Amino acid sequence: MAETKSKLGRELAIELARVTEVAAVASARLRGRGDEKAADQVAVDAMRNELNALDIDGTVVIGEGERDEAPMLYIGEKVGTGKGPKVDIALDPLEGTTLTAKAMANALTVIAMAEGGTMLHAPDTYMEKIAIGGGYEPDLVDLDVAPEENIRRLADAKGVGTNEITACILDRPRHAKIIDAVRSVDASVLLITDGDVAGVIATTKPEDTGVDIYMGIGGAPEGVLAAAALRCTGGQMQGRLVTSSAEQKARAAKMGVEDFERKFTMNEMVAGDVLFSASGVTSGSMLQGVKFNNGTITTETLVMRAASGTQRWIKAQHRADKFA
Ligand code: FBP
Repeated sequence: MAETKSKLGRELAIELARVTEVAAVASARLRGRGDEKAADQVAVDAMRNELNALDIDGTVVIGEGERDEAPMLYIGEKVGTGKGPKVDIALDPLEGTTLTAKAMANALTVIAMAEGGTMLHAPDTYMEKIAIGGGYEPDLVDLDVAPEENIRRLADAKGVGTNEITACILDRPRHAKIIDAVRSVDASVLLITDGDVAGVIATTKPEDTGVDIYMGIGGAPEGVLAAAALRCTGGQMQGRLVTSSAEQKARAAKMGVEDFERKFTMNEMVAGDVLFSASGVTSGSMLQGVKFNNGTITTETLVMRAASGTQRWIKAQHRADKFA
């Protein structure tokens, strides 16, 4: 396939797969132990070690928090050997800490790497999101349009009735209205307890996941990560920060956000070339979780490149005695 010239080559994509694999194995050892913090911390440690071995001049733009609250992988932290391309890094070492602690489906380790200076610096606030998969006219769905209308537009574009559309929404009290609106046009709502990066990505494969559209409010950092994934797969997404308090507005302003009401498109959240990798910690709609068996460790990873649009599922079998 013809691809635009990219500094973020195929080899780097494989290196990135290794980063999420190692983090997934570390967290998977703590599945079902009821300890969110510990499961997250081992993923952070593993990801940071692996990233620092890469020949990149990386800056964490979406990380574990601001410097004073996160000792590792904080926003602004430099990662890599400093020798390679200048890149922005967005990461969620463990997307689904509660899912992991309870050994529930769909926990992932996630990272995206973009050309330096091309990723939105999203504060750790909420973000209103809407996303659909590829193959539709631009701006088919819109955050400023009622949920019912978005469902109708999508159904028309697909050539089906609204009763054949399924919206994935986080199961939170704040979504009561949106859920009612979707159901009012006879569409189906698939509720998830956590993990909206996977929820957004699910829209790109409705034939497998049964999800046509993602709607609702989740984490802003997860929004940028999901936008990175959609840049690779094709699809459309909009996000708008939810900054209700003065303190949240101040945090957003510190990150360079000037207009708090601004609706960001997918291409504004991640403007440059980008790589994305996610590994399964627990099995889910997208990836199998880590399996430990008889001295082997099996991981499953989805690694993608925006330049080529290639999506690779890497099922790797590691020897436990040689695994870092
Ligand atoms: P964590 O892995 O940090 O627990 O995040 C899980 C998650 O479900 C995200 O996928 C989502 O964006 C966010 O939390 C939603 O936040 P909240 O639980 O506050 O509604």
